Amino acid sequence: MAIRKKYIIANWKMNPVSIAEAKNILEKLANQHLGSDSLEVVICPPHPFLYLVTEFPNLRLGAQDIFWEDRGAYTGEVSGSMVKRLGGSYVIVGHSERRKYQGETDAIVSLKIQACLKNGLIPVICIGEKERDQEDEVRKQMEASVLNIKKNKLKNIIIVYEPVWAISTYSRGVAASPDDALAGLLFIRKLLVKTFGQNLGKSAKVLYGGSVNSKNVFDFVGKLGFDGVLVGSASLRAKEFIDIVKIISKD
Ligand code: PGA
Repeated sequence: MAIRKKYIIANWKMNPVSIAEAKNILEKLANQHLGSDSLEVVICPPHPFLYLVTEFPNLRLGAQDIFWEDRGAYTGEVSGSMVKRLGGSYVIVGHSERRKYQGETDAIVSLKIQACLKNGLIPVICIGEKERDQEDEVRKQMEASVLNIKKNKLKNIIIVYEPVWAISTYSRGVAASPDDALAGLLFIRKLLVKTFGQNLGKSAKVLYGGSVNSKNVFDFVGKLGFDGVLVGSASLRAKEFIDIVKIISKD
């Protein structure tokens, strides 16, 4: 049986503020030769630092957002076509912070997913409820942006179960418990299998996000069977991020 590839995706958010700091983190990661055929290490920095990641061949480049059109009069926006030409492979779409501060709706998220697919970029689609036990919110987001994707495109997307209440900014670093995370994973899998069938539904990539660190990452990937993790604040601390990657490499 083919080995299931794992993904560790760093979401730097609006950090760090200087090129020197960004380079410093990347150099530390690059020295460790992270990433392999079975493990993809993706760095999603703020747009002004995207080009920096392309200087490190063992790190894959992702953007934190794109606009849904390829070009035109859209002041302040960056397109999927630009990210692709710069060497990008991934784009985070539908993050709860963009839903909150930029008012992104499910319809906008859906347009952005289509723009990613059109440009050969893998959308990393964040799905998660604001409060604990709100399955309906997860179902609604899944229906609006994932379950309507063409069957043959399912292999080209990554879904992240990221309960908003477990993101470190809200939870002070307390991740979802294994039980809560597993419930989210099983619910998303059930929707995928129901919509796309057993084989495709089971092979779709589902990651966990929310206060991931080197102490809990094994629970999510090694024990619960997530296909990887989306890492926010811990990805800005080079040593901690390297530890996370090493734990998953051994898994
Ligand atoms: P966190 O962020 O790891 O700091 O909780 C995750 C995210 O918001 O993507």
